[in-house]
Amino acid sequence: ATTASLAERVVTWQRTQGRHGLPWQRERDPYRVWLSEIMLQQTQVSTVLTYYVRFLERFPDVAALARAALDDVLAAWAGLGYYSRARNLHRCAQAVMAEHGGRFPASAEQLATLPGIGRSTAAAIAAFCFGERAAILDGNVKRVLTRVLGFSADLAVARHERGLWARACELLPPASADMPTYTQGLMDLGATVCLARKPNCLLCPLQGDCVARREGRPEAYPVKTRK
Ligand code: ADE
Ligand code: SF4
Repeated sequence: ATTASLAERVVTWQRTQGRHGLPWQRERDPYRVWLSEIMLQQTQVSTVLTYYVRFLERFPDVAALARAALDDVLAAWAGLGYYSRARNLHRCAQAVMAEHGGRFPASAEQLATLPGIGRSTAAAIAAFCFGERAAILDGNVKRVLTRVLGFSADLAVARHERGLWARACELLPPASADMPTYTQGLMDLGATVCLARKPNCLLCPLQGDCVARREGRPEAYPVKTRK
C-alpha cells in the first residue's frame, strides 16, 4: 500500500478519471457555480447542461435574476422540477443584492445563511470559487464516506449525521491542497464509481482503505432508517 492520504488519492484520481469539461467547472464565478449546484442537487448532469446555458442567457448575473419576475424564473426552470429550488433561487438572488451589495459572500459559513443554500452546497461553492477548506456531504458523498469509514450509525439520527460531518472535516486535505479538485473528486466518485447498487470497487482509488469493501458489503451503507 502507498502512504498517500485518502484525500490525495481522491485528488489524483479526479485528475485522470474524474469528470472534466463541464461548463460550471470552467467557472470560478460564484453566481454560475451556485446556479449549477442548485440545478445539480436533484437533476442529472445531462439534463442540467441545456437548462444551465439557457438560464444564464436569460439571467446572466445575480442582479438580472434578482430583478426578474418570479414567474419568469419559474418559466426558465420549467422541466427541472422541485420548484422550491427556483423560488429559493430568486429569493437568494434578492438577498445577495439587498444584504451583500450584489456579491456572493466568500465563505461557506456566510453562504449557508442564504435561502436555499445548505451546508454542503455552501461548502461546494466556497471550495470551487474560493478554494476554501470546507467539507461537502451530499447524498453521494455520504455513500462514499460511510462505506470507506464503515460508518454504520443511523444517519436519520441528527447526532450521527453530525458525527459524519465531523469525519468529513477530518478527512479534508491540508490547507495547501487543490480544494476544487478534491471536492469534485468526491462528487465524481459517488456519481460514477461508488454507486448505490453494484459499486465499481475495482476502479476505486479508495478500495485499499474501504471498510465496507473489506467487509464485502458496500451496499449495506449508508444506514438511514425512515424518520
Ligand atoms: N453534482 C453536484 N455538484 C456537481 C458538480 N459540481 N459536478 C457534477 N455533478 C455534481
Ligand atoms: Fe465505494 Fe467500493 Fe470505493 Fe468503497 S471501494 S468507496 S464501496 S467504490
